[in-house]
Amino acid sequence: MLNNNPFTILAETVPPVAMQYFIIAMVLLIAVGTIIQMIHHKNLTYFFANAKKAKLSATKELGIGEKTGIIAKTAVVDIGTTSELGFGKRRLAHVLGMYGTILFWVSSAILVFCYTGADKSNSETWSMLWHVGAILTCIGGYWFWFFLRVDVSAEAHPWYRIIKADLFVLALLACSTFGLAWSYFQFNGQVGLSYLFLILFVASNLILFGGVYWSKFAHMFYKPGAAIQKNLAEADGSRDNLPPPADAPEQFGLGIKREEPKHY
Ligand code: HEM
Repeated sequence: MLNNNPFTILAETVPPVAMQYFIIAMVLLIAVGTIIQMIHHKNLTYFFANAKKAKLSATKELGIGEKTGIIAKTAVVDIGTTSELGFGKRRLAHVLGMYGTILFWVSSAILVFCYTGADKSNSETWSMLWHVGAILTCIGGYWFWFFLRVDVSAEAHPWYRIIKADLFVLALLACSTFGLAWSYFQFNGQVGLSYLFLILFVASNLILFGGVYWSKFAHMFYKPGAAIQKNLAEADGSRDNLPPPADAPEQFGLGIKREEPKHY
């Protein structure tokens, strides 16, 4: 099953060009949802106003080379490993889900555009990566959903309590889970179940990408921007207008040791 491209068999009933248009439509939905969210929440206006204000208190002018170095380091360390989540389970779960999702999306596009259709060859590698991406997303996502979510781990709410803020993680998990189930039943020749999960797979993609405006989807664009701005502000001395770090030793008393810090 893992080496099988599920879009190839689907191409016997659905033309590959329709699948390609579906992917393009999903990309457009991301762009539209994010832009409308930015306009309504005014986060970009705030972001640039804050950056402009901070620039006034900069103590050092950064050269192009320095800026490039900071941006590259932020991309590899802060963004690539989601370092803001500290060390621990929360970060590991996020990294699994993040890379799983990226792998799943990239391989979906490559399979549909390059390896689906009567005249196209098969790619076992990309088919394998599609399944691995979905599995990694499920591992990271379900771990987060059942055990690490603040509502569950710190506020003692049951795992089945769902609020609007869960739209993103649930839609993401639905896409990977239904995608895997579709591939499994298709591979085993269970036509009815395979179509049922295909419909659920398509529906969850429409919810994930159509719900960008209402969900946390766009954090994958905002967070990297904020991390780059924070590191540039630290390097040019403006520190986002925050006071300089204290030069006294960090003594918080014994109280701080009573409970493990949790990096939400
Ligand atoms: C494809 C890219 C990404 C995916 C699929 C993804 C997925 C997720 C998911 C499912 C959540 C849980 C959301 C919730 O609270 O319900 C989350 C939270 C979070 N993400 Fe991402 N993310 C991505 C990129 C990023 C990037 C690039 C950063 C930072 C540079 C980032 C930082 C965070 C942080 C700080 C949280 C809060 C974590 C927590 O509450 O434990 N994410 N992400």
